[in-house]
Amino acid sequence: MRTLTSERLVLRPWEPADADFLLDLEGRWEVVRHLGAAPSTMTSRDEALASIHRRRAISAHHVHGVWLVADHDGRRLGNLLLKPVPLSTDERTDGPPEVEVGWHLHPDAWGHGYATEAARMVLDDAFARGLTRVVAVVHPENTASTAVCRRLGMRHLGPSTRYMDATLEVFELVAP
Ligand SMILES: CC(C)(COP(=O)(O)OP(=O)(O)OC[C@H]1O[C@@H](n2cnc3c(N)ncnc32)[C@H](O)[C@@H]1OP(=O)(O)O)[C@@H](O)C(=O)NCCC(=O)NCCS
Repeated sequence: MRTLTSERLVLRPWEPADADFLLDLEGRWEVVRHLGAAPSTMTSRDEALASIHRRRAISAHHVHGVWLVADHDGRRLGNLLLKPVPLSTDERTDGPPEVEVGWHLHPDAWGHGYATEAARMVLDDAFARGLTRVVAVVHPENTASTAVCRRLGMRHLGPSTRYMDATLEVFELVAP
C-alpha cells in the first residue's frame, strides 16, 4: 500500500500497533454517531485488531485504501477511506462497485482542515490512477462532514436510499 504525504499530513497503512488509537477513535459516540444505518461504538481491542486486518485487506487494491492519518511528528489524527460503498439491499447488482470517500478524525484533531487536506490528497492520487468518480454519503445532520464535501468541490445530488439501507445525502466528484 502506498503512503501519501502532504504539507501537514502523512497517510500510511494501519498497523496492529494502532489498535489502541483506533479503539479510542471509534469508541467515541461523537465519532461514530452518523455512520451507517445502525451506528455503534467499538468496545474492545480485539475488535480494533480485526478492523485493522480488514483495512489492510482493502488496501491491497491499486486504488482503494484505508489510511491512518498522522502528522509529520507521527501523532495519530484519524482515518481516511476510499473503498466500494455498500449498496442498500434492494440496489445490489453485479455491476462495478461505486467508490466512496470517507473521513473520521479524533475530536482533538477537528477544526484544522485535516480531513479536507487528507481527502484531497487521496482523491488526486486516485484520479491519477484512473478512478473516474467518487461519492460521499453523509447523514443529513452531519454538518461537519457536509462542509468537508463542499470544501472538496463535490456536487450535492440530494437525499437517496441507494446506500447502506439508510436515507443519506449523496455528494459526487468526477475525475478532472
Ligand atoms: C467530519 C469531520 C472529519 C470533519 O472534521 P473538520 O475538522 O470539521 O473538517 P476539516 O478537517 O475539513 O476542517 C475544517 C475546519 O477546520 C478549520 N480550519 C482551520 N485551519 C484550516 C486550514 N488550514 N485549512 C482548512 N480548514 C481549516 C475550518 O475553518 C473548519 O472549521 P469550521 O467548520 O469550524 O469553520 C469530523 O467532524 C469527524 O471526524 N466527525 C466524526 C466522523 C464522521 O462523522 N465522519 C463522516 C462520516 S460521512
